[in-house]
Amino acid sequence: MGKGAPWWEGAVIYQLIPRSFSDGNGDGIGDLQGLTSRLGYLRWLGVEAIWLTPIYPSPLQDGGYDITDFQNIHPELGDLSAFHRLLTTAHGYGIKVIVDLVLNHTSDLHPWFQRARWSKRGSLERDVYVWSDDSSRYSQAPVLFRKFETSNWEWDEVAGQYYFHRFLRHQPDLNYENPWVQEQMLEVVQFWLERGVDGFRLDAVPFLYEEENSRCEGLPQTHAFLRRIRQKVEAFGRDILLMGEAIQPVEEAAPYLADDELHGAFNFVLTANLFAAVASGSSKNLMVCLRESQEVVSGCRWALPLRNHDELWLGDGHLIPPEVIQTIRAGLHQGHGHWLNWGINRRLAPLLNGDPRANKLLHGLLYSLPGMPCLYYGDELGMGDWPGLRDRDPNRTPMAWTPERNGGFSTAPEPLLVLPAVTAPGYDYRVVNVEVQKLLPGSLLNWHRRILTSRRLLPALRNGDFELIESSHPSVISYVRSISDMTVLVAANVAGAGASFYLDLTPWKGQRTREVLWGCDYPIASENWFVYLPAYGFSWWLLGEVDQTPLNHELVDT
Ligand code: GLC
Ligand code: CA
Repeated sequence: MGKGAPWWEGAVIYQLIPRSFSDGNGDGIGDLQGLTSRLGYLRWLGVEAIWLTPIYPSPLQDGGYDITDFQNIHPELGDLSAFHRLLTTAHGYGIKVIVDLVLNHTSDLHPWFQRARWSKRGSLERDVYVWSDDSSRYSQAPVLFRKFETSNWEWDEVAGQYYFHRFLRHQPDLNYENPWVQEQMLEVVQFWLERGVDGFRLDAVPFLYEEENSRCEGLPQTHAFLRRIRQKVEAFGRDILLMGEAIQPVEEAAPYLADDELHGAFNFVLTANLFAAVASGSSKNLMVCLRESQEVVSGCRWALPLRNHDELWLGDGHLIPPEVIQTIRAGLHQGHGHWLNWGINRRLAPLLNGDPRANKLLHGLLYSLPGMPCLYYGDELGMGDWPGLRDRDPNRTPMAWTPERNGGFSTAPEPLLVLPAVTAPGYDYRVVNVEVQKLLPGSLLNWHRRILTSRRLLPALRNGDFELIESSHPSVISYVRSISDMTVLVAANVAGAGASFYLDLTPWKGQRTREVLWGCDYPIASENWFVYLPAYGFSWWLLGEVDQTPLNHELVDT
């Protein structure tokens, strides 16, 4: 293992749902073969890693997060050789592969659970899950899927006991007090390490252990087990990313980022604040959140998503102040009537009322803030959604590749598709798709590709230091990213109206400034440096003795 920075530092991660990405065998269901054939596109786009939501055998009660075999591939997606082909092709393109690791629970159809319910009370087999004679234990643990469940306990006729489940009743929680469970899950990690994966996205990490009189989140025993996983991947001797999903306030998510625990964790509080900023036209809370996030864990260890396969999480009123939630619901278009458990169940584009300027602004922030930007498949096109589908399916519809049948996702007859391709007005796949947008120089897709190219040429944006700069305007957020020989200044206007303002560039006074996305010079840096940004506008400037070459030259198609 080299001593250089690990591959994930500042890496752009593309999240996709294999079932919804590309169908290689024409049965209407996306698969690994289809995904492998699309890797050229992802390389063209310029992402550095893909994160696949679960690919394991599953009855799909929860999008594959209900697993019946941790060491295999869902037959509809392919098999272990198809996975091997995916991995080697991705690596050939220089793309890393991150898989989902679901530690907390299995499917109720997993052989372990079936054996547990038929085994004697107190037996090791029964003890693989969390059982109780009364459903009042762990009563302080909130019900997470509160739209679908009213209790964390479900009565099992065969066992004659209740079993504990933090998610759906189809997802019984594993009992981590049982050393056998710990060993099995460490073996699962070893299995995928040996298959060559580059990282794990650790699902629902806070919930591994339970304890009375607690919320059963982030207990010390849970952290101890995560440290064992870290030791396991360290022992493997390659740079393997461990990225945790802890949907928690920043100070509760931070302990997972202890030096001997996970490498990265999603910053969902930041996500909520990004939406709140656009909804309210004010950058204040966003700046507070960034300052706090960097204070508790500095550097690039936060993963930065906008949307994902779940709802847009806005918390329970503790995390994001209720008035900010109100602002988001009132200010963001299409947010009403789509509340699921803890947030809004829609994709990015409809939440932004289809406005590409806001899409660029938010991604422009992700691509320049310290962390790992996470791009959700389709958001590079401004792809729409299908409200009204079951659970979180509105956000999980097929990727739009071409104007042809099913958006080029599959050759199968339409009723066989895993989920319907989007034909909603304004988002019809005949208009919003990769092929058409590739041909339009001003498209959102080409913008994403160009800005990712610019970002690659600006290492300060990848892993530079981060410093917020005060601006005189309530809609503006400004910061500097710097490494030893490069300083990049960023300013962004989160409001739907233009903003003129001054920045105090005293530390850089007298230095040259050059805007890199437009490729033009600006006045010399001063204590009262004047800038104008249009609605949702943002700019990246190089400070110092800057190179004259415009970075955003025309890209040659490959
Ligand atoms: C995570 C996943 C979500 C899933 C849940 C239970 O939150 O992102 O999709 O339903 O865990 O596994
Ligand atoms: Ca298929």
